[in-house]
Amino acid sequence: MSNILVLNSSVSGEASISRLLVADAVTELTQRDPGAKLVFRDLAANPVPHLMPDTVAGVRAQAATPAEQVARALSDELIAELRAADTIVIGAPMYNFSVPTTLRSWFDYVLRAGETFSYSEAGPKGLLSGKKVIVVESRGGLYSEGPAQALDFQEPYLRQLLGFIGLTDVTFVRAEKIGYGPDARDQALADSRAELAKLAA
Ligand SMILES: Cc1cc2nc3c(=O)[nH]c(=O)nc-3n(C[C@H](O)[C@H](O)[C@H](O)COP(=O)(O)O)c2cc1C
Repeated sequence: MSNILVLNSSVSGEASISRLLVADAVTELTQRDPGAKLVFRDLAANPVPHLMPDTVAGVRAQAATPAEQVARALSDELIAELRAADTIVIGAPMYNFSVPTTLRSWFDYVLRAGETFSYSEAGPKGLLSGKKVIVVESRGGLYSEGPAQALDFQEPYLRQLLGFIGLTDVTFVRAEKIGYGPDARDQALADSRAELAKLAA
């Protein structure tokens, strides 16, 4: 039985393309493994709070004050979910050429020295391994080819964040040109669904 961690971060509710595709990915994965245990984190409905002056030490240093201890406990919980997962499905819309701040905030809590990465003489080392990650990227425009390619601060950034903690088996499913009208949107959905089905096969 596998464990699947599912993160959503779109603020667009039922209109969200990434949420639709994340749900499809979960359906495909659970069809393959009906006993899979699912853990859902909706980072838009229940945001992980931004690290603040009174909480940052809880994640980046020693947790001394009550506020720091609360941040540490949340970081522990999020890291435990990540460690337990065999597969992680991430819904990542492109917001302002990168990821929603809610998703970025989740990373602030799970990239923790001594827990998910360590420093060595050879540089930082990711401590998580053996996990598959599927990232659904929804974008208004086209970034995988053409003139806007250099403006994609979403996929390289996510690859770096995940790789930094040892998550290197990452598949990106891109739903692009969502803002180009209903036909383009439908085509993007169909193409991404076909990719997800192939991934599960
Ligand atoms: C705050 C915000 C910023 C956005 N910034 C970009 C952007 O920089 N580039 C882009 O192509 N689309 C941008 N979009 C459009 C979304 O990427 C697109 O609507 C996508 O479908 C959002 O994912 P969702 O449908 O899962 O919510 C933005 C949308 C929002 C709400």
